[in-house]
Amino acid sequence: MKWMRLSSAILIQTAVVSAAISWKDSVSRTSVDLLRKHRVGRHSTGDFSTVANAVGDSDPSSNPYYVELPLDHFGQSPGAQTFRNRYYVQDAYYKPGGPVIFHDVGESSAENYAVGMSDEQDFSVSIAKRFNGLLIVFEHRFYGESAPHTSVARDLYSASPAGLTNFYKFLTIEQALEDVVVFASNFTYKFQDFPAQQLTPDKAPWVFIGVSYAGARGAWLAKRNPGLFKATLSSSAPIQLKVDFWEYFTAVEDALAINHKNCSADLHAAADWLSQAWLNRDPSLLDQFIEAVYQKGWLDILQQQSGFYGPETIWDARLDFMRDAAWTPFANFQYYGISESTLGRFCEIMETAYDPNGTPEGVFATETIERAAAAYAKAIASTSAFSYYAASRQNNKKRQTLSTTDGTLDSSLDDYSWLWQVCSEFGAFQVANMSRPENLVPSFINVTAQIDQCLGLFGESEQVNSAGPNVDAINQKYQGWYLELPNTLWTNGQFDPWRALSVDSENDDAPTNDTVATDIPQCGSNFPPGAQLRYLIRDGLHGSDVSEDVAAAADNAGNFGDLVPTKTIVNGITATLRHATSMHVSLTGTPITDAVNAQSLWISAMSSWIPCTTLQFTYTAAQATTPAPFSSRKPFPTDEPSVVSAATATETVLAGNSKKTNAAPSLSIHSSMIPFIVCILALTVGVQDLF
Ligand SMILES: *[C@@H]1O[C@H](CO)[C@@H](O)[C@H](O)[C@H]1NC(C)=O
Ligand SMILES: *[C@@H]1O[C@H](CO)[C@@H](O)[C@H](O)[C@H]1NC(C)=O
Ligand SMILES: *[C@@H]1O[C@H](CO)[C@@H](O)[C@H](O)[C@H]1NC(C)=O
Ligand SMILES: *[C@@H]1O[C@H](CO)[C@@H](O)[C@H](O)[C@H]1NC(C)=O
Ligand SMILES: *[C@@H]1O[C@H](CO)[C@@H](O)[C@H](O)[C@H]1NC(C)=O
Repeated sequence: MKWMRLSSAILIQTAVVSAAISWKDSVSRTSVDLLRKHRVGRHSTGDFSTVANAVGDSDPSSNPYYVELPLDHFGQSPGAQTFRNRYYVQDAYYKPGGPVIFHDVGESSAENYAVGMSDEQDFSVSIAKRFNGLLIVFEHRFYGESAPHTSVARDLYSASPAGLTNFYKFLTIEQALEDVVVFASNFTYKFQDFPAQQLTPDKAPWVFIGVSYAGARGAWLAKRNPGLFKATLSSSAPIQLKVDFWEYFTAVEDALAINHKNCSADLHAAADWLSQAWLNRDPSLLDQFIEAVYQKGWLDILQQQSGFYGPETIWDARLDFMRDAAWTPFANFQYYGISESTLGRFCEIMETAYDPNGTPEGVFATETIERAAAAYAKAIASTSAFSYYAASRQNNKKRQTLSTTDGTLDSSLDDYSWLWQVCSEFGAFQVANMSRPENLVPSFINVTAQIDQCLGLFGESEQVNSAGPNVDAINQKYQGWYLELPNTLWTNGQFDPWRALSVDSENDDAPTNDTVATDIPQCGSNFPPGAQLRYLIRDGLHGSDVSEDVAAAADNAGNFGDLVPTKTIVNGITATLRHATSMHVSLTGTPITDAVNAQSLWISAMSSWIPCTTLQFTYTAAQATTPAPFSSRKPFPTDEPSVVSAATATETVLAGNSKKTNAAPSLSIHSSMIPFIVCILALTVGVQDLF
């Protein structure tokens, strides 16, 4: 009876669901958290490193600049519609003749990055300082402040799918790349102490630094506009786009396999259990599980979400909570690995739920299903401050307090924009692959479900449709992971989930005929076919080289960390590509010591490429083009029927029961869990305060 009452309560809310973001999985942004680790920490503790702001002593982050750019570079009249694109400049280190260091932040507001522009331990700031460069932090169109300020932009939540599609139609990879070309080709800067200077790529060497999607942008620009940048750091760049990105989790599996085998077995078992509960529509244990995770009765959970949640059936609601729960342990693995992440905390609580030393086989293998599910609930509840549920709730609260007439952009702009990019061109849905014994996520986290969500939010159009994101267009134009570039350093992290789409991928279909260049190639010169200058950061995660502070020990000669200088490049800067000692920190904590070697390599590469004269760039206006219609593409093939059979699941349950028939305390162990709960409200305090 309880459920009947609930269902009608839910139905009332369906009207508002269409434009609400209710994604809880598969859309982790590639770089949004990057650097926050340091920035947030420093801000809250006041421990900001010394700022040698010799020239102008204003804080760059409080002084944004704007450039007016065409909304449609490839239309018949590009100037017809424009938007203001934001960027920030740190000029304290610039000396005439120095390079322009262009830090591209990709799919995120540039504000978070601008805060670090006074921090000399910040990677790009240290580069600007070392090379007497002018540092620019550039915002991507449709993120932060850099979007047309239309009524849709001020209130995305209320916009119709058609309204959103019309708003976003010029948010494409190519349009956003052309923004950089136009911006650079026309860049003039007014210094306090010098007259305004034209610092276009023909007058000053431009250098690109980008991580993740931004790293891929650097590589695409190097291919599409050779010579625009004299040196490109393409860090953790997913360059081979793919819709069904189950490989995202293989890095997590690899990391867990080092010394968390029990936790990996449990995550696998939990994924199977949730998959079965969904396939069999079996709420028996599930509802207790959900109530235990969220520490509330169902009715409360849903009422609290009023105006945000509007599932049509109780099973849609359950599905949302299951997705959220299943995704939570991995919420920040890509930035923090295991030991300092939600995953580490999850594993510790899960594995010690009944036995302080844990067991090698894990809880699901040694306890009844009820007790295992209870431990699983406890472990998720303890990390749920990081869940999308918590984040959505936060956004929802913000949205409710936002006036739609004050001219500011919707605070969810970055989220919606990335979803648009993911749904239209980028793909990379992080989903289950049920046929793998190591699989960590339930079957309902799948591509079909993601495409359905795309259609639910944006409707059907040329750009977003049932064929799924059009990853082929970009892969064909830029050659995916076969792309070979002069004057480019590719860096990747050993345990970065995005590495699977990079030039350093170990996917089955990744290139095997390529090699790592062992020396910095001469400026503008082509490598032997297949060779690229790459560096794989041992124990590295997503963007480790750019997010790690620059080693305090780095001296002016360019000697870093354990790198033995063996080769003089220019200006007395020496470096080698080889490690002096073999280091392996096994993800036991930060810093990622090997990141320093990638940083060092980049400095050497820059030194050698900045003076490059063989790469010349001349600006030519973009040609008007008619985009190839998407309509010829076929619907994305639906997923195979799930591999886990109902029979297997029943056996699991029975086996669980027969092992410990005495226990089965059900999930009503709430009170014993409460001390472990990091309450959802803790979201606002951020990661720092939790660990
Ligand atoms: C640069 O700006 C000037 C002045 O606003 C404009 O006339 C010119 O077309 C711009 N050039 C490019 C390449 O956008
Ligand atoms: C089981 O898990 C705990 C907690 O994650 C871990 O400390 C322990 O080493 C694991 N034991 C085995 C045998 O894998
Ligand atoms: C799932 O993994 C298997 C085994 O690794 C692989 O052969 C298969 O192609 C994967 N499924 C999909 C949809 O890519
Ligand atoms: C994919 O996920 C949806 C819901 O998230 C589910 O209804 C569907 O059954 C799933 N497909 C498979 C093959 O598991
Ligand atoms: C490597 O293989 C790919 C795919 O077959 C091919 O396109 C590329 O040219 C090859 N590269 C080299 C250096 O042989």
